[in-house]
Amino acid sequence: MTDSDRLTELATRRGFYFPAAGAYGGVAGFYTYGPQGAALKRNLESAWRDRFLTREGHMEVDGPTVMPEPVFEASGHLDGFDDMILECPECGASHRADHLVEDNTDIADAEALGTERVAQVIAEHDLDCPICGAVLAGESVAAFNLMFGTNIGPGSSAPGYLRPETAQAIFVEFPRLAEYARNQLPFGVGQIGKAYRNEISPRRGLVRVREFTQAELEHFVHPEGAPPDLSGVAEVSLSLYPIDDQEAATTEHVETTVSEALEDGVIGSPWVAYYLGIAKEWYERIGVDMDRFRFRQHLPGERAHYAVDCWDAEAELGSNWIEIAGFSTRGTYDLSRHAEHSGESMTVFEPYEEPRTTERPAVDPDMSYLGPEFGDRAPAVVEALEQRAASEPEAFDGEEIEIAIDGESHSIPVPITGFEIVEETISGEHVTPEVIEPSFGVDRVFATVFEHAFRRDSVEGEERTYLAFPPELAPTFVGVFPLMDKDGMDERAKEIADALRERGFAVEYDSSGSIGRRYRRQDEIGTPVCLTVDYESVEGDGSVTLRDRDSATQSRVPAGKGLDPLLDALTDLRAGRQTVAEIDAGLRSGAVAGSDEPIDSEAE
Ligand code: ATP
Ligand code: GLY
Repeated sequence: MTDSDRLTELATRRGFYFPAAGAYGGVAGFYTYGPQGAALKRNLESAWRDRFLTREGHMEVDGPTVMPEPVFEASGHLDGFDDMILECPECGASHRADHLVEDNTDIADAEALGTERVAQVIAEHDLDCPICGAVLAGESVAAFNLMFGTNIGPGSSAPGYLRPETAQAIFVEFPRLAEYARNQLPFGVGQIGKAYRNEISPRRGLVRVREFTQAELEHFVHPEGAPPDLSGVAEVSLSLYPIDDQEAATTEHVETTVSEALEDGVIGSPWVAYYLGIAKEWYERIGVDMDRFRFRQHLPGERAHYAVDCWDAEAELGSNWIEIAGFSTRGTYDLSRHAEHSGESMTVFEPYEEPRTTERPAVDPDMSYLGPEFGDRAPAVVEALEQRAASEPEAFDGEEIEIAIDGESHSIPVPITGFEIVEETISGEHVTPEVIEPSFGVDRVFATVFEHAFRRDSVEGEERTYLAFPPELAPTFVGVFPLMDKDGMDERAKEIADALRERGFAVEYDSSGSIGRRYRRQDEIGTPVCLTVDYESVEGDGSVTLRDRDSATQSRVPAGKGLDPLLDALTDLRAGRQTVAEIDAGLRSGAVAGSDEPIDSEAE
């Protein structure tokens, strides 16, 4: 059994995740998170919210997942959100044509080649159907739109789509959000929610699914505004795989820091560099293995229709590098398009520090002359005069000015144009903000944390598997066991479990099987600590056994008169302020102060 098979089996058996609607044979691309998985996902989302919203002072919204068609006409998803599809002539399976090429040739960015060239490459390389082996040469490759369509209300007059990215639910609300931010740039709006893509071939478990959760931040910045304060991230180390290195086909990564990457021009935008820095530290905090992590710059042909530049966070899963987040510079694309399509202003008004007085050429034509002379073409004449005044004011220096309407030239007496240089006082300007977007796929982060936490070792000659989740993420935080279900040990264990739950810890109470077996059950789901109540706990000094998941060591800690020191220590452990060894030492030194002897640690 490979580790990958072990993980899939563990995911199902211990309630992390499994294919949805299994009773009906399942449906590709949809998964249900079981009790452990739902808790782990919730903890990941909380950790993301903490780092990218709360600590950055950004807002959070929760928009609808179904939106009307005009939203996606404006966003460009209706026309451009396509993948390349190829259907096998024998078995009928649908394949991502660009993936077939990338998986079987040296070509790294097949998407950039276009459908016709991809079909040619498939023929040139004699590629076969990965399912049935049929020859695919000669089969056509088409563009397939990934959005799930629906109708809003009865009938088909109001088509809608399940959002393919949470971002659009933020962009369309920009006027209200800007008002809420008191029109002060920069400001950020985040959202954690579902997105849907009708993927051609869902695969690799949670990595490519049709319904998934995104955690996205849209950071609106002034195009000429100050760069972010980089002091907190300047020295964060980054492993980068920029365009040049990809094109040179080197697999080496550039090991650098945020500030060096900016100085050397490897990363162009200080905002993107800032977010790569905090993302790197965040991934480390949630247990992503930094030896299997990098940031890769998108090749030009790979960028989404809205992106000016993009870096992906990638993690190694199995032997594949998988995109787990994208950091895009979206420019003013989205807000400009929504302004154009909706007619609503998507700008913020930026007042100048001091009102500015400027001079501007202007016309105020005499309509009593233009009306009779030009009839219904008079407005076109006014427009032509306005444009001319703005672009070539010196043309009004003579007695007459020549303008062209519908290709016909006309002479207009300058005095009737009302041309003059006017003074204007302007108090500010309307600015369309640029957007920096860190976009995280929660399910892919989940898959990474799950795989990178997987460990195998042996305890007392017996093989064990465990998930080394950071305590903050562990879906079950503490296991509580009575040594035996009698003599008051069960009651005391239940009291302790209740007190822990009262403090907000996820507790599993388990009274069945040997203690060793109970520890293994918790190891498998990644529970960082367990507490065992025995005779000493109820008849002796009240202490309990504290058992550490990673080292499998046990020690006795006080839990007699008051539970507060233990609860406080576990709170510190969950918050990452202390390790198990530290809380253990702290509790036992407390015990030394209150009793005669320290209590020794021992291996299991
Ligand atoms: P890919 O190239 O793998 O299809 P993408 O470039 O289309 O990904 P983005 O459009 O940048 O992905 O989406 C932002 C994030 O949303 C991704 O980094 C990923 O974590 C997540 N994501 C996108 N598509 C899926 C999917 N089908 N299943 C799970 N997560 C996804
Ligand atoms: N918001 C980035 C994406 O989902 O494509």
